[in-house]
Amino acid sequence: MGEELKPLFSRKEIAQKVAWLASEISADYADKKLLLIGVLKGAFVFLADLIRHMTIPVEIDFVRIASYGSQKESLGEIKVTKELETSLEGKDVLIIEDIVDTGLSLKFLVDHISTKNPSSLKICALIDKKSRREVEIQVDYVGFDIEKGFVVGYGIDFDEKYRYLPEISVVD
Ligand code: IMP
Ligand code: MG
Repeated sequence: MGEELKPLFSRKEIAQKVAWLASEISADYADKKLLLIGVLKGAFVFLADLIRHMTIPVEIDFVRIASYGSQKESLGEIKVTKELETSLEGKDVLIIEDIVDTGLSLKFLVDHISTKNPSSLKICALIDKKSRREVEIQVDYVGFDIEKGFVVGYGIDFDEKYRYLPEISVVD
């Protein structure tokens, strides 16, 4: 109870976009040693669907970072709460993120992952809110660009609610 949800992207739109992203990534990383790093918890559904459309072998790992505060705004302080378990040495790493908003979380993650010497490091995000950016960060693969609004569903939560919903909606 409480918030009202307005549909934004349907299951079908999401499925088509994820399949398209997987084909782009598969083509770009053919002959590479690709390691996908899912950012918990928000990216777990996206990652699970993405890998099933990949046409090249991939390895998977997860990282979890927390920024303080569970509400709609990300706050300044970020730390790793679940560390990577795979060696990144010699691997081509692609971070799989649900949403890029201010960019602060990803900037932190890129700095963190860079210290582990991957061969290359790029970013894939299902949703990009470019106009909200506070730090410069290059997102190499973007599913959907949105202007503003707080979205939920398809793994993405508001205070741990709505992750299970198969479509993406805006919280009003
Ligand atoms: P950033 O550090 O401001 O870029 O925030 C990115 C993180 O904040 C994302 O990985 C999400 O976990 C969360 N976030 C940002 N916007 C939304 C939203 O619209 N819905 C749910 N979570 C969001
Ligand atoms: Mg997140």
